[in-house]
Amino acid sequence: MDKKPIKILVLAGTTREQRKSVHAARFIAEIGRQQDNVEIRFGDPTDFYFPGDGNDPEGKDSRYTELTEWADAFFIVTPEYNHSFPGTLKRMLDSELKNYIHKPVALAGASSGRMGGVRAVESLVTAVREMGMVVTFTDVYFAQVQDLFNENGEIRDEFYKEAANKAYTELIWMAKVLKQGRETAGFEN
Ligand SMILES: Cc1cc2nc3c(=O)[nH]c(=O)nc-3n(C[C@H](O)[C@H](O)[C@H](O)COP(=O)(O)O)c2cc1C
Repeated sequence: MDKKPIKILVLAGTTREQRKSVHAARFIAEIGRQQDNVEIRFGDPTDFYFPGDGNDPEGKDSRYTELTEWADAFFIVTPEYNHSFPGTLKRMLDSELKNYIHKPVALAGASSGRMGGVRAVESLVTAVREMGMVVTFTDVYFAQVQDLFNENGEIRDEFYKEAANKAYTELIWMAKVLKQGRETAGFEN
């Protein structure tokens, strides 16, 4: 199998000014950088601009297009807003399609309550599936995210390191398998 590094794009899920879930997203990126033979890039919706809706050329941001083209796999960290995921995350994801197809995605949720964004993750599954991504089933749920990180953005609970490592184990395996499949087995639709 190909020995090239697996390229993973970690995506934060909101532009809210006081957002706490971005700490969880940065933590997921940091754990990713500790994995063997993996390259991590970080996509923050505050860095992009998507005019209007949709994925027509005028509805894209070329920086996001390049990142999604580069990626072999995705790790999306979404906060829970009204039992779903934020509109800005949907808008960002909607802007591309072919760069997602038959690439794996791992999902993490974050919320101020004890459920850790489980409903946001569940609703995101439906959308990313329609985008052609292949969803892993080892999720990470950051419960009470507002209390989980200290002022330096360091996590207070070691449990999440284990949870994130497990999620990467599945994501990296699936990224290798699907990359080989995309490169060697023709697929016509
Ligand atoms: C518009 C909005 C809706 C929210 N809805 C929920 C919700 O349905 N369930 C929940 O557990 N937390 C909800 N929250 C709280 C977020 O989970 C909380 O703000 C958490 O810190 C993650 O979001 P953040 O990254 O914006 O901080 C909501 C927050 C906002 C701003």
